[in-house]
Amino acid sequence: MGAVTARFRAVKGTRDLWPHDSERFAAVERVAREVFSSYGYGEIRTPILESTELFAHSVGQMTDIVHKEMYTFLDRKGRSLTLRPENTAGVARALIERGPQNLTKPLRLWYAGEQFRYERPQAGRYREFRQIGAELFGVASPAADAELLRMLFEFLSRLGFAALTVALNAMPTGDAREAFAEKLREHVRPHAEKLGPDDRRRVEENPLRLFDSRDPETRKVLEKAPTTLECLDDESRAHHEGLKKLLEDTGIDYVERPSLVRGLDYYTKTVFEVTSHALGAQDALLGGGRYDSLIFGLGGLPLAAVGFAIGEDRLIEAMSADGRDQRKARRVFFVLPGSTEEFGYALSVARMVRAALPDAVVETDLTGQGFLKGVMRASYAEQDPDYPFDVAGKWVQIVFLGPEERKRETVEIKSSATREQTTVPLQKLGQWLQDLKQ
Ligand code: HAM
Repeated sequence: MGAVTARFRAVKGTRDLWPHDSERFAAVERVAREVFSSYGYGEIRTPILESTELFAHSVGQMTDIVHKEMYTFLDRKGRSLTLRPENTAGVARALIERGPQNLTKPLRLWYAGEQFRYERPQAGRYREFRQIGAELFGVASPAADAELLRMLFEFLSRLGFAALTVALNAMPTGDAREAFAEKLREHVRPHAEKLGPDDRRRVEENPLRLFDSRDPETRKVLEKAPTTLECLDDESRAHHEGLKKLLEDTGIDYVERPSLVRGLDYYTKTVFEVTSHALGAQDALLGGGRYDSLIFGLGGLPLAAVGFAIGEDRLIEAMSADGRDQRKARRVFFVLPGSTEEFGYALSVARMVRAALPDAVVETDLTGQGFLKGVMRASYAEQDPDYPFDVAGKWVQIVFLGPEERKRETVEIKSSATREQTTVPLQKLGQWLQDLKQ
């Protein structure tokens, strides 16, 4: 019989996460929850579907994300909907809908969830990917940016990332932003005929977006362009200087990167990114910044805000590249009934093992194919990289149950590491397992 060819395949840029992968995602999200909640962040879950208009008004009509990368469709009533390409807009929409005046500030929210962007798939870049993010509302001072970055670094260091540096920049706001845009136009206009049609349109309509261009011509023209830092208004400059001082106080390594503009329109003042060498490409591990005008721009009351989002797929790929794993090492027991006759006995023994060691993995062989098959399955746990759990090496224990054991109410436990075999009466099983703990 030839191999079966799948008739249906996962959509390009999407993938299935099998247990050994999804356990890693769950483990990282567990650390996120622990660290973020210790800073007072509660989890928010917003819908994956939002109205298309929301992203046009927040992320920005001229950005690559909105212009080229959204999954947009009409629903059955002809409404234009979009699979969210990022989560900040959805959180802002939720906040306005709830009425920020009804919420205690500062308001700290975090999330983890799928995002969708129609990008060219490659390592670390997918069309469906997950982000872990956090947003802090209601604090205009740089103390908020600094605390947020402190939390981010704590999270990353809990995952084993050491010696990370944040690339930092500041965006002018208000009139200074318009003045900066005009300076950029003046700089680029003489070279406009060398640029592609998209970038030429950007020069007039939204010159800041030129910084997102991957076109080498545009990049060359921008090399000598005026920088945001030269054009900061007094308030943004004071914010930036204040933040740098706080980052030094709190021990966060940063480098100022004047070319960092970030591909979303809503940023004001602070913007930052962290890249990881493990990822090879220049793709960022995470990005974020301040967006003090967004809530007002979407029709809410003015409300200061700052946040970040981490590419969870990239984070996990970077960790795997370094051989790091956030999964908890688990003790594994295989309960092997000698035949179908011992199924009932096996189920109750397995239950006793779970009761004695709640964080153990206890798998009962349900094939009734006997010990040998069961032992083969058990050795798979230790060797197969696809096994979902991180097996604490010496902890694979095989519990044999044959007709004799059932009659005598005992179990035979064999350690796969030491090959030692022990007969344990059922009555003493709980205690015996407890003693193993030490
Ligand atoms: P962003 O820079 O567009 O910012 O995305 C944040 C992170 O999501 C990126 O640094 C990257 O790690 C990950 N990411 C983006 N696209 C992909 C992809 N196609 N495949 C895999 N990972 C990807 C935002 O989304 C903002 N909402 C961040 C923010 C929150 N700013 C303020 N609050």
